[in-house]
Amino acid sequence: MRHFLEVGDLKPKEIDVIVSAALRWRKRGYPRTRPLRDKTVVLVFQKPSTRTRVSFQAAVAKLGGESMYLGWGELQLGRGESVEDTGKVLARYVDCIVARVFGHGDLVELAKNGRIPVINALSDKHHPCQALADLMTIYMYSKKPYQSKVAFIGDGNNVCVSLMQVCAAAGVDIAVATPPSYRPPEEEVKKALKVAEETGASVILTDDPREAVRDADFVYTDVFVSMGQEAERNRKLAEFLPTYQVNASLMSHAKPTAKFMHCMPMHLGEEVTPEVAYGPQSVIYDQAENRMHTEASLLAYLLRGRVK
Ligand code: CP
Ligand code: NVA
Repeated sequence: MRHFLEVGDLKPKEIDVIVSAALRWRKRGYPRTRPLRDKTVVLVFQKPSTRTRVSFQAAVAKLGGESMYLGWGELQLGRGESVEDTGKVLARYVDCIVARVFGHGDLVELAKNGRIPVINALSDKHHPCQALADLMTIYMYSKKPYQSKVAFIGDGNNVCVSLMQVCAAAGVDIAVATPPSYRPPEEEVKKALKVAEETGASVILTDDPREAVRDADFVYTDVFVSMGQEAERNRKLAEFLPTYQVNASLMSHAKPTAKFMHCMPMHLGEEVTPEVAYGPQSVIYDQAENRMHTEASLLAYLLRGRVK
């Protein structure tokens, strides 16, 4: 029984198996064996979601399983029942918990159930399912992923951390440009650097977006103000704008063939301009589609132990 709370919960080889299956399924269709045919997956979300929620439920359906969605407030959690008890009880009914939470610690509590996998559908610290889809997108758009460079510009947040860790695991070079006080947390950078030692990836942190995007094959950004940070909005925007906005001028410093990536939803005019988001270099909708394929192969891998 394995949880997927952060990228490091899977070995680089396992990530490759999951992403390769997703690429195969996207191209040739889902397996007829219906790998999740007798499985039920519950989604428990504390925050709104379009992609994660729908892509997970669609993925489960495509593999022949059942899913149900519950808002956090609909459960007794809203009346004070503990997260640990909730996890232990849900584990008596279903085969997997997919949870989106504010505090990463709530996932750790759910994972104490001791019986079924818990999958992180986004926490304040990590967004590992997004990272699997991001890696799949990088594979789709690069002939030699090992020679590719990804630049992440903006906030060293959950999406940035998981992207950095998945790139390190896959041997893809990554440069992260953030204002000095918004670097990804030190302990997360250390994890990425440790894996990068094995895979040969380079992980670079800078405060200069132009340096980060130089020779980049992929330029990635995410919102400056994440869910739950609305009170910090004005202060954050003042720190990030205009330097950390991905616009045509910044894109011109990347390779001419560079692709633009974003986990979505976007705040147009903040972290990215409409001309880039909807321009010819943008691959955001493929990236969003890939959420479903990678979540399907992840579920098959965690619940069946294989992706055939
Ligand atoms: N990228 C992402 O996780 O989107 P949602 O918030 O819509 O799930
Ligand atoms: N960093 C963003 C990602 C949304 C998919 C957030 O946490 O709100």
